Amino acid sequence: MCGISGRIGTNVLLFLICDLQKLEYRGYDSAGLGYFENDNIKTFKVKGRVSGLNKVKKKCASIGIAHTRWATHGKPSKANAHPHSSENGNWTIVHNGIIENAKQLKQEFGDEHFKSQTDTEVVAHLLEKYGDGVEAIKAAMERLKGSYAIVALNKAYPDTLFVMKNKSPLYIYQSEGQVTVTSDIITLDTGFYYDLEDGEYGFVTAEKMQIFNQKGKKIKKQLLPIKKDNIILPQKPFKHHMLKEIYDTPTCLQYLIDYYKNHPTGVDFSKYEHIKLVGCGTAYHTALMGVKFFEGIAGVESHAYIASEVYKPILKPNTLCIFISQSGETADTMEVMINAKKQGAETLLITNRMTSTMAKKADIVLPMMAGEEVAVASTKAYTCGVSVLYLLALQAAGKMNFTNLKRLQSEIAKLLSLSPQPRLARCKNVFFIGRGMDDVSAMEGCLKLKEITYINSIAFAAGELKHGTLALIDKHSLVFALNTCAERAGKMQAAIEEVRSRGGKVVELTTLPATNKDAVKFEHIDDNLDGLLIMVYLQLLAYYAAARKGYNPDKPRNLAKSVTVI
Ligand code: F6R
Repeated sequence: MCGISGRIGTNVLLFLICDLQKLEYRGYDSAGLGYFENDNIKTFKVKGRVSGLNKVKKKCASIGIAHTRWATHGKPSKANAHPHSSENGNWTIVHNGIIENAKQLKQEFGDEHFKSQTDTEVVAHLLEKYGDGVEAIKAAMERLKGSYAIVALNKAYPDTLFVMKNKSPLYIYQSEGQVTVTSDIITLDTGFYYDLEDGEYGFVTAEKMQIFNQKGKKIKKQLLPIKKDNIILPQKPFKHHMLKEIYDTPTCLQYLIDYYKNHPTGVDFSKYEHIKLVGCGTAYHTALMGVKFFEGIAGVESHAYIASEVYKPILKPNTLCIFISQSGETADTMEVMINAKKQGAETLLITNRMTSTMAKKADIVLPMMAGEEVAVASTKAYTCGVSVLYLLALQAAGKMNFTNLKRLQSEIAKLLSLSPQPRLARCKNVFFIGRGMDDVSAMEGCLKLKEITYINSIAFAAGELKHGTLALIDKHSLVFALNTCAERAGKMQAAIEEVRSRGGKVVELTTLPATNKDAVKFEHIDDNLDGLLIMVYLQLLAYYAAARKGYNPDKPRNLAKSVTVI
């Protein structure tokens, strides 16, 4: 979702545009810049891609702010793109997050005073109401409810970036006359940075930085080293990030195995009788796999929850709450984590971003080791997240070993070495069915197809077919039947026949030896891990279907990589 950069230095517009390019992966619909030119603040905004800002990149500016916007309040448009200015033009700001009392504040000023439909413009007006400088920031923050990371330019201070932060990340880098303020550490290279806490605000110039806490007291911030994970992935030329990221999977799994061989997880499973797993989308599917592992391998009662559906978590004593979030910034998941912590729960986060906001809050943080994931559709992070849960379940059962994970890694490498390009047959409806763990894999395969091809497809437990959905099956239906569990193979076969006898086309994906001759066969590794091998195939299926339709699989419409709003 939205991304922020603010810079002080030379030719900052060039750097700001580079920063926005690094933030593009988060998903956005418009972009904009604000900068000082002859003591006046200028803005330049575009609907669409960051490359539209290149028209001004050669302008000389030594201070500026930049933003990529993912629409929440008001449609994607040039008028709604950030930066937004106050009425007298003294303040110009960029904002990540949501101002929850924007509507009430807007009424105070009168609708006719606003040029955009955004909640952000209200903040600019509020700042103007309270004057200039840091005092205005303090007064405005006392009125604001919601989440915000804001970087602001104030006409009275042409060498200064003003900052304010609540529930949305904001980081400051300052070194030898160069300043970067960013919402994402990805834009920083090496060195040290400051991490703002909720309620903090202040200002930064090339030489000076002053931050205040919620009570208005000056505070000294601690410098933190910029940590990049040492995951070096092959830089082969791929047409899209998503394809590259699928092909990264074996390397990431190798990093994961090496890491967990040498770093104990720090979880004491003897303390827990219950496990609750929480995530959204693909991370929720990861959580569902976790339940299968903890119950199947370790015999520990476990439940998975969609984060946005957890209203009041009931936490028994001796419960471990596991949160899964590739980005570590997903607002729905974070809200549950905060509530769980308030109830005294022990929290464990599995994430791909060890410096994320959730990573700062969790009691234990375990890395996915997936390396950077840029494509909106998660691929290697799913495989790695599920693999971490598999290892945790082995540990909980006192059977920690890496043998089968290593086999999975080499089978995925073998599969990819054949460069498979699965084709999606023409059809009206697509279904994904499976039993047990295959049901979870069916849900994840289905999500991948939906999100990047826009084909309406559904996934459900194969046994449920005859309880309703069979009514939809006809000769225009295509059914992917995942079949990896020997014990349930007979029942899966029955479901396959039910589809075929109604004219539906079935593509069986299986690791079992004795199955239909036209089935797509995969190597059997371990009942718990077979689904991850098939998943790579389903990810490729979705990728090639999207690419053949001429869509950009990396940037599906309406979606963002990091979902920081509730
Ligand atoms: C789908 C996908 C999303 C994310 C979800 C949670 O391919 O990537 O469903 O899994 O938005 O994101 P994280 O894992 O960052 O919390």
